Amino acid sequence: MNAPVLDVRGLAYAYPDGHQALFGVDLHVHRGERVALLGPNGAGKTTLVLHLNGILSADSGGHGAGAVSVSGLPVEKANLAEIRRRVGVVFQDPDDQLFMGTVRADVAFGPANLGIRGAELDRRVMHALDQVGMAEFVDRPPHHLSFGQRRRVAVATVLAMEPEILVLDEPSSNLDPASRRELADILRSLDVTLLMVTHDLPYALELCPRSVVLSGGAVVADGSTYDVLADEPLMRAHRLELPFGFDPRNVTPRP
Ligand SMILES: Nc1ncnc2c1ncn2[C@@H]1O[C@H](COP(=O)(O)OP(=O)(O)O)[C@@H](O)[C@H]1O
Ligand SMILES: [Mg+2]
Repeated sequence: MNAPVLDVRGLAYAYPDGHQALFGVDLHVHRGERVALLGPNGAGKTTLVLHLNGILSADSGGHGAGAVSVSGLPVEKANLAEIRRRVGVVFQDPDDQLFMGTVRADVAFGPANLGIRGAELDRRVMHALDQVGMAEFVDRPPHHLSFGQRRRVAVATVLAMEPEILVLDEPSSNLDPASRRELADILRSLDVTLLMVTHDLPYALELCPRSVVLSGGAVVADGSTYDVLADEPLMRAHRLELPFGFDPRNVTPRP
């Protein structure tokens, strides 16, 4: 079998203040998989995500152990530029990702940093915006867009890097039902390996055949999303609650 796109081994991490957030996490994601990362507040999900492109690491001030690699390339200082090309992280708050005067400038920022210019840069920008249905907003200032539109542009800023894996932290949070639905359609249409942190269990079931549950900084379950959501003792033990009236057994998967 090919090397996994994402290979996390024995990852442990304590923040500089001494608070330990991860206790030996193992996670392997193969090309083309769509995996949901579930878990209660404070489980360490965001801490894990921030290790995937080297924002956090044992040498960034905290204390850690273990290793992360992306398609065989270790996440470490010497490789960070290449790692950040391979791993596209969409943060929880789109306003952490959008800081230029126009949508075009924000989406062009990453590929321009890679040295891409001219027609190829335009192609990257327009293709990424097409993928999220935001091409017509290319010359608008991001801060004039709705929250849901800003989240889509944030996804485009990452897609413009043509990453090997797209990592999203709580992509459906703060979206109204229509925006949530539109983003699900977009994410389903992308031909990319996906790791999605979410509290939105129906979203996980709809988009991700596989789910990993992180709780107390460790992986406590890894299996089909259906099996995870249907495991009532597991769900209760890790404070995962299905919305009222939602029964995974009544959901027919979309093609
Ligand atoms: N900058 C930080 N310094 C110290 N502790 C932190 C920091 N950020 C998060 N933590 C702690 O680490 C644990 C995991 O947090 P986080 O990864 O944000 O969890 P999740 O995303 O699953 O809600 C929590 O107990 C949180 O309080
Ligand atoms: Mg979080």
